[in-house]
Amino acid sequence: MPNHYRSLSESVNAAITVLKSAKSVCILTGAGISAESGIPTFRDKQTGLWENYSAEQLANIAAFKRDPNLVWQWYQMRRDMIRDKEPNPAHHALATWQDSAAALNQSITLVSQNVDNLHEQAGSTVQKLHGSIWHNHCIDCETPYLEDTTGKDELLNCPVCDGLIRPSVVWFGESLPDTPWLAADHAARHCDVFMSIGTSSLVYPAAGLATLAKQTSGTTVIEINPNPTESDMVDIQICEKAGMVLPSIINELLAV
Ligand code: OAD
Repeated sequence: MPNHYRSLSESVNAAITVLKSAKSVCILTGAGISAESGIPTFRDKQTGLWENYSAEQLANIAAFKRDPNLVWQWYQMRRDMIRDKEPNPAHHALATWQDSAAALNQSITLVSQNVDNLHEQAGSTVQKLHGSIWHNHCIDCETPYLEDTTGKDELLNCPVCDGLIRPSVVWFGESLPDTPWLAADHAARHCDVFMSIGTSSLVYPAAGLATLAKQTSGTTVIEINPNPTESDMVDIQICEKAGMVLPSIINELLAV
């Protein structure tokens, strides 16, 4: 079913139709779902002190080993930026849908690449593929570091082995945590509908989940993104901001 819908309302109606009859839905979200909460995405150009760096240059272990101060300060800046942000209507709509899943006789697995915790704040259960920006651990012995790091712009050392403390996010080139990845893989293989929301679909393995869903069970793939990706897996493309369309789509599903 190639995307042949001519208007936004046609695409939205097509999505509602397939979602109404779906028994199992796998949803993958990315930074775009938090954009309307005021958090810049990874592909947005950085500003101020950070304008000469891309996220890829900073979010990797080689960068941390080369210049741990720089990477730590970038994460402290990102934490300061995210701290007071709140879930937006897209996060709330997904949480409401998950809450009603049993009544709708649907299984809904929410998988996210986001480290900001806004899905959880909205009340969702979420498989977090890239960790949480609010946690830290030792780079050497991996012991979690539980002290509050607010305002700590200097590097911190592990009380157990004196190793450097790093944010507990998955960096480029690192493996994803097993439990959420296995849940995401299972949900993608067994869903009738796969929704890709607010992600550029460039970073693997998360970006491969839609292909996995399609190839395993011929799943219908819906994408919500104001700047459509070039993925040829997408059947229904909804070119709009998530917070603008998800609440009405989910209201329709709940109205059954
Ligand atoms: P990106 O920054 O790559 O992509 C964000 C996507 O969201 C873009 O395609 C935007 O067009 C879209 N977008 C922007 N505003 C939106 C809105 N209001 N509603 C819906 N979509 C919107 O973010 P991710 O795909 O999440 O990984 O990036 C994947 C991973 O790469 C991240 O988890 C991070 C990153 O670098 C690591 O740090 C390992």
